[in-house]
Amino acid sequence: MTGKIATIGIIGAGQMGGGIAHVSAVAGYTVKLYDISAERIEAGIATISGNMARQVSSGKMEESVRQGALARIIGAPELNDLADCDLVIEAATEDETIKRKIFAQLCPILNPEAILATNTSSISITRLAAQTDRPERFIGIHFMNPVPVMKLVEVIRGIATEESTFETAKEYVTRLEKTMTVAEDFPAFIVNRILLPMINEAIYTLYEGVGTVEAIDTAMKLGANHPMGPLQLADFIGLDTCLSIMQVLYEGLADSKYRPCPLLVKYVEAGWLGRKTGRGFYDYRGEHPVPTR
Ligand code: CAA
Repeated sequence: MTGKIATIGIIGAGQMGGGIAHVSAVAGYTVKLYDISAERIEAGIATISGNMARQVSSGKMEESVRQGALARIIGAPELNDLADCDLVIEAATEDETIKRKIFAQLCPILNPEAILATNTSSISITRLAAQTDRPERFIGIHFMNPVPVMKLVEVIRGIATEESTFETAKEYVTRLEKTMTVAEDFPAFIVNRILLPMINEAIYTLYEGVGTVEAIDTAMKLGANHPMGPLQLADFIGLDTCLSIMQVLYEGLADSKYRPCPLLVKYVEAGWLGRKTGRGFYDYRGEHPVPTR
């Protein structure tokens, strides 16, 4: 048993939802993983299994822990399958309309006591909470990618979030052995408020011809000791997600310094969304990533 929370529902089996399922199962929770098709759930579980295998081969995890954790992850092809969850974390696409639709379908299914959390990287927790039947039991729990590696989780209260909801979220994050920072509910919270304008500026630097893709990434890796260059990181996060975070900052703070770079918009319009689609600022379809400009 893991305190008040035993079973966690996760909506979205993509890179974030899969990562959250991974660390939650390792921490001993039963996880129900939902996505819009059985294929997506299967693919998500296969990725989790592979990521755990990496941790086993590098000596960070025992094979028995991997087996136990995988056995605790149950595919949930229907939202109804989440009815007995104590905590549900929404990690769907960063699109408010999609999230709103999910909450509308999910809330009547959930136990009234269940806590609903969102992994949104930028959208107002207060506004999302207001669209549910439980703003007091609604909270932002924002993980960083790759979830199994990154130590931080941002926790964001909406205006109506009750203290007991916050305490439960804190207990959960502590149980995952992650470090929690508390951010106020303003556009993009802390990490993305700082990180995304830096990435957007790197794209402007490319757009204005100050440097090539390689020059910009090498400059920031070796000149600022970042583990990845900003364009490589943009591809890793997903250019659609980067654009939607910049739009939230631009609209939410009404300051022109947050305007998304037109080159970022162009990549998203082309469907070149980064690693997940095989192409972004780099082309990942060959053996090694090759800059696309
Ligand atoms: N699951 C499990 N383990 C993983 C993993 C995953 N998904 N991804 C990487 N790892 C492990 C590797 O197995 C490896 O383990 P060992 O050291 O034990 O061998 C270790 O992490 C390092 O990985 P690699 O050797 O493959 O590569 P690397 O040294 O270049 O590190 C990285 C990869 C950890 C991703 C590193 O490049 C990094 O920290 N990049 C920056 C990531 C970052 O900034 N994330 C935040 C994005 S912003 C965000 O997420 C918020 C948002 O809302 C947009």
